[in-house]
Amino acid sequence: MEEINKTYQDDLILFVNGKKIVEKNAEPELPLLTYLRKKLCLTGAKLGCAEGGCGACTVMVSKFDSDRKIIVHKALNACLAPVCSLHLCAVTTVEGIGSVARKLHPVQERIAKAHGSQCGFCTPGIVMSMYALLRNNAQPTMRDIEEAFQGNLCRCTGYRPILEGYKTFTKQKGCCLRGEAGVCHVISVQKEETQSGDSTNSVQQLFNPSEFMPLDPTQEIIFPPELMSLSKQPVRELRFIGERVQWIQPSSLANLLQLKAENPAAKLVVGNTEVGIEMKFKNLLYPVILAPAYIPELNSIQYTENGIVFGACVTLTLLGDVLHTAVDELPSYQTEVFQAVLQQLRWFAGQQIRNVAAIGGNIMTASPISDLNPVFMAAGCKLTLMSKEGIRVLPMDDKFFIDYRKTALKPEEILLCIEIPYTKKGQYFSAFKQSSRKEDDIAIVTCGMNVVFLEGSNIVQDMHLSYGGMGPTTVLASATSRRLVGRQWDDTLMQDACSFLAEEMTLSPCAPGGMVAYRRTLTVSLFFKFFLTVQHKLAQEDLSAEDVRADYASAIDLSHMDSPTSIQLFQAVPSGQKVDDMIGRPIMHLSAMKQATGEAVYCDDIPCYENELYLALVTSSKPHAYIKSIDTSDAMAVPGVVTFVCDQDIPGSNKTGPAVYDETVLAEDKVTCVGHIVGAVVADTQAHAQRAAKAVRISYEDLQPVIVTIQDAIASESFYQPIRTIERGDLTQGFQEADNILQGEIHIGGQEHFYLETNCTVAVPRGEDGEMELFVSTQSAAKTQALVAKALGVPASHIVCRVKRMGGGFGGKESRSSILSTVVAVAAHKVKRPVRCMLDREEDMLVTGGRHPFFGRYKVGFKRNGKVMAVDVTYYSNAGNSADLSLSIMERALFHMDNCYNIPHIRGTGYICRTNLPSNTAFRGFGGPQGMMVTESWMNDVALACGLAAEQVREMNMYKQGDLTPFHQRLEQFTIHRCWQECLTISDFCQRKANIELYNKQHRWTKRGLSIIPTKFGISFTAVFLNQAGALVHIYTDGSVLITHGGTEMGQGLHTKMVQVASRTLEIPSTKIHISETSTNTVPNTSPTAASASSDLNGMAVYNACKTLLQRLEPYKARNPTGCWENWVTAAYFDRVNLSANGFYKTPDLGYNFETNSGHPFNYFSYGVAVSEVEIDCLTGSHKNLHTSIVMDVGKSLNPALDIGQVEGAFMQGVGLFTLEELRYSSQGYLYTRGPGMYKIPAFGDIPTELKVSLLRDAPNDKAIFSSKAVGEPPLFLAASVFYAIKDAITAARTDAGVLGPFRLDSPATPERIRNACQDTFTKLCPPPEPGTYAPWDVRV
Ligand SMILES: Cc1cc2nc3c(=O)[nH]c(=O)nc-3n(C[C@H](O)[C@H](O)[C@H](O)COP(=O)(O)OP(=O)(O)OC[C@H]3O[C@@H](n4cnc5c(N)ncnc54)[C@H](O)[C@@H]3O)c2cc1C
Ligand code: FES
Ligand code: FES
Repeated sequence: MEEINKTYQDDLILFVNGKKIVEKNAEPELPLLTYLRKKLCLTGAKLGCAEGGCGACTVMVSKFDSDRKIIVHKALNACLAPVCSLHLCAVTTVEGIGSVARKLHPVQERIAKAHGSQCGFCTPGIVMSMYALLRNNAQPTMRDIEEAFQGNLCRCTGYRPILEGYKTFTKQKGCCLRGEAGVCHVISVQKEETQSGDSTNSVQQLFNPSEFMPLDPTQEIIFPPELMSLSKQPVRELRFIGERVQWIQPSSLANLLQLKAENPAAKLVVGNTEVGIEMKFKNLLYPVILAPAYIPELNSIQYTENGIVFGACVTLTLLGDVLHTAVDELPSYQTEVFQAVLQQLRWFAGQQIRNVAAIGGNIMTASPISDLNPVFMAAGCKLTLMSKEGIRVLPMDDKFFIDYRKTALKPEEILLCIEIPYTKKGQYFSAFKQSSRKEDDIAIVTCGMNVVFLEGSNIVQDMHLSYGGMGPTTVLASATSRRLVGRQWDDTLMQDACSFLAEEMTLSPCAPGGMVAYRRTLTVSLFFKFFLTVQHKLAQEDLSAEDVRADYASAIDLSHMDSPTSIQLFQAVPSGQKVDDMIGRPIMHLSAMKQATGEAVYCDDIPCYENELYLALVTSSKPHAYIKSIDTSDAMAVPGVVTFVCDQDIPGSNKTGPAVYDETVLAEDKVTCVGHIVGAVVADTQAHAQRAAKAVRISYEDLQPVIVTIQDAIASESFYQPIRTIERGDLTQGFQEADNILQGEIHIGGQEHFYLETNCTVAVPRGEDGEMELFVSTQSAAKTQALVAKALGVPASHIVCRVKRMGGGFGGKESRSSILSTVVAVAAHKVKRPVRCMLDREEDMLVTGGRHPFFGRYKVGFKRNGKVMAVDVTYYSNAGNSADLSLSIMERALFHMDNCYNIPHIRGTGYICRTNLPSNTAFRGFGGPQGMMVTESWMNDVALACGLAAEQVREMNMYKQGDLTPFHQRLEQFTIHRCWQECLTISDFCQRKANIELYNKQHRWTKRGLSIIPTKFGISFTAVFLNQAGALVHIYTDGSVLITHGGTEMGQGLHTKMVQVASRTLEIPSTKIHISETSTNTVPNTSPTAASASSDLNGMAVYNACKTLLQRLEPYKARNPTGCWENWVTAAYFDRVNLSANGFYKTPDLGYNFETNSGHPFNYFSYGVAVSEVEIDCLTGSHKNLHTSIVMDVGKSLNPALDIGQVEGAFMQGVGLFTLEELRYSSQGYLYTRGPGMYKIPAFGDIPTELKVSLLRDAPNDKAIFSSKAVGEPPLFLAASVFYAIKDAITAARTDAGVLGPFRLDSPATPERIRNACQDTFTKLCPPPEPGTYAPWDVRV
């Protein structure tokens, strides 16, 4: 575009945390997040996904709305907001509202003190969402808070503590609102407990709200007066000319139309929530961007005779506000469409997206799964289009969307506004959206349904049914609607309508998105909901002979879930315990405050070295192929590119792997999965490196076979060796003794770690002797050091690996992180400069693998009374293209095949499948959950086959104290029966069950289910040599203490616990003790922080080191008994005593032999029990988690706040595993689900409405430090209680449909699986395509 005579302005003016910034050459492609982090060094806001799906980057943006004459504050995603869009805005980041040094803001203080920050990577984003909410509403309701967090994810905490902490800002102030006679339930429970008079049984609060600073809205940063006056000045055109893109902010509508006429290909950008995704992930480039967000005509709202007209740039938040007011003010019959739009907005993205995304952007994206378009189409909205030539008005009908993401707009036209009509008497409208997760998820099927009746009758005059998710565009079911006109709204119409819809709304069996039978069933089931809704309204107006049957009424209930409430019970410290002794007290994670202020430093927050370069990976797009050639010419032409790194650049060995060296650092001549790392581009910036990496062209020669699924591997006998078996008793005898034998199968899907911080490494060559220093986000510093040394061909002593903290690990940074670190180290070695790489979320998900999918096949023999006599189970795991830790994972699955049940004759065999997927790896539970999930599947089948209550069959088969496991380990201090009984009591199991039975009798289309599940989890690494740890403790002359130990901090609070251990041992306050980082040059040869054993192992090592030091100080204490710690340290120093000691620990008596089935694999077991109640919607497959009670044996808790945090966090991760998270692959091993947009981890709304967690009291464990127990992994499996409660509810639905007996339900129990399992008349109308007759879009691996 030609330069014009400077009628435009080219400096971007914005304020950041109150400071004015004038940016001369703003780069249009630069997101605000990168600008803040890299240019302004404000690293508080984090990068979690770059697609608006996690909220880690949330900041608040304030601007003066000159139309409404108000200052608007809104939370938005800095990862999507182009910095150029922020002209005349004030940006507030987490650093701007408070700091540890200055003063914390109440939102920062409360999340920290309420234990709502574990790894802390999500915390700044959550803080800023809350802050923005409070700036707009100083006393919000819980519903406001829940809405504010729809766009924020946390992978660690399980959300409960965050909500609990922030509940204190509401009017309720943290009261549970559930007690009788207005007395808070939580407080009354505590009182009851304390009144028992036994101090060891008393319950304390996890935090004390009375310590919180009050919120004082008058103290907030003011909107810069200068911005206010600048905002009032006449608007000038703005232009920013970047490397590839030009950004133009037109001054007026006429200016916009002129520019569009000159540049028909120019892209309009408003919220950038769609275009940003296209440019980042779909590699699209728009050289000219027009930003019309400030043009008054495009922001206007006009009330006409027919409806309300919204300018195309009106944000979804404003749209919602206006419609809410209209709904409140107008008669209900007039606002049927408005209510439907609000219903869709309620579950549309998160607040950060709704705050910037425009109504016009949603329409013009023309996405087939848009939530608003089906409503607009069914409602017959009118669109006004405009160009320099004039105006056109089009109805929004099936001619408007002409193809996939294409509309009837001409290139030079823009959308000016949309009119949303009022409804009339006799007109009814509903909208429905079905997605995998309720909050912030794209629709599977979404619809708008509109019916108009002849006046005063129930005869259909007109009808429009519009669906999204059923084709390449939003579609109208016109044929169905036509056939229903003139008919009465009765059951016959409903049945016919469903058949017509089933005929009309077809999908190819191979349709993109898969779930074909489910999507078709939804079109019918959602219509049924609409039918009932309308029938009810007609009945209310005396226009229908019948109202909705009482047992059908819940099918149309769209009510909001109650806000969550919770109770945590734990044992108080003994009354005589010294005040300074922190063991057993619920002290806050030591970094929590820094995490809440954004001051905590993660790997990518380390400031850039002056000559630093950035690395981007080049990965394979083929599952199995020879590499014929690599063409880097286009890549090398990208500005700033320094080099391409390939296997030839590796000075040492290219062979790598955590257990066996069966992988390459960089592919040599062959790739064995999509995502196999082939090479890397190193450039001056991340943008250049990533652009160049995409320009590398690799040509392949395909190889066969391509093995993707477990079934493929079984068919080709593609297994890693050895095949493990554990067997006890005599199976033949066991099956003979049984009254019945049944066989079954279950598939358990994999899981992505989704640590909020992706893998990151900064490698810094030291220039001498091949030395290199690495800053890594890893659970395994020593392994990283060893594998980098091997690749560089230098001794390990020349490599230092340092880990400050991780933004979550969960096993995903135990072994797979070292591949990236090695590639980065090789690149740094090659270019002799520091090199950094933090994987993009989609790369991380593609490359680093996750939890192993498992398939279990079983045969169970049992007595009529439910006693299980014999089990023969075969496990298959999908390991991917390298062995990694798969053998140990399978071994742990086998060690847990009994869960808590004593089966006299049992055999488990484990096959590890070698497939063409990225190598799967450790994940919290390490095979244990998969092993036990199969157990509970056969246990459930036995109960169903015997017609007995599942809890009765489970209890009957349970171990007793002193019993032997199948691997001959004796169960001592066996607390499962205590956990079981307490859990039955606190969950009020019997009453709950009776209530559910009654509920299920009274409701046909929603069902409730209940389940109680125990768990027993073996503690120790099964590789014996890993059960060792070291620590190094220094006392400085001022009395301060520095600890280093072998464990890494990933949010679990390990460092906090280690400080507590040292504090008790040295008998000094924890404030004198510091842990800075984990590093290989202080404590060598460390085991990965894994297997839940890190507190046990490192705690003992720290204890031993502290004991040594204490002994050395003893003489000085004896000589000066009234002196203080500093006196004794000084005296010892002047006496030339060594004030540094190391400690070492190895777990005694471990070792197991698979050949002889003898020895001890575990030091001890952790136990727990959970009860869960759910409600399913049989028509859509959605479910709500109504209640969970957990009783967990953590021994004598070192820190109840951290332990409860682990229990709840693990439980919610398990809820994700068993009910929500689904990795979807093509038949060629291509992973579709590579970000939060498609892969759904639990969100705030997924936590149980009522959650009770109790740490078992008086259960000391003599096998671990200060009688504690491991807690990281064991509670995860308790989420199986939710899965089996769902299965229980489905059983009730099937019983109503006359389908009885055991049935297969694979994990996760997604809406699709739940719906398909609830067989009924609607599912029969839409049978699944015949397997083998088509190539499905996705396969289950
Ligand atoms: C995390 C996330 C969650 C989401 N969730 C949902 C969801 O739940 N439901 C849903 O339906 N969508 C969802 N979306 C999609 C997206 O947010 C919406 O489509 C949004 O309304 C787009 O608005 P925008 O202003 O950001 O569009 P932009 O990205 O700015 O523009 C989108 C398109 O519209 C065009 N356009 C914009 N205005 C005009 C105009 N006046 N005239 C002509 N063309 C114009 C642009 O040129 C571009 O092609 C989600 C997106 C993200 C990133
Ligand atoms: S990084 Fe912006 S939402 Fe995830
Ligand atoms: S604390 Fe929320 S992601 Fe770790």
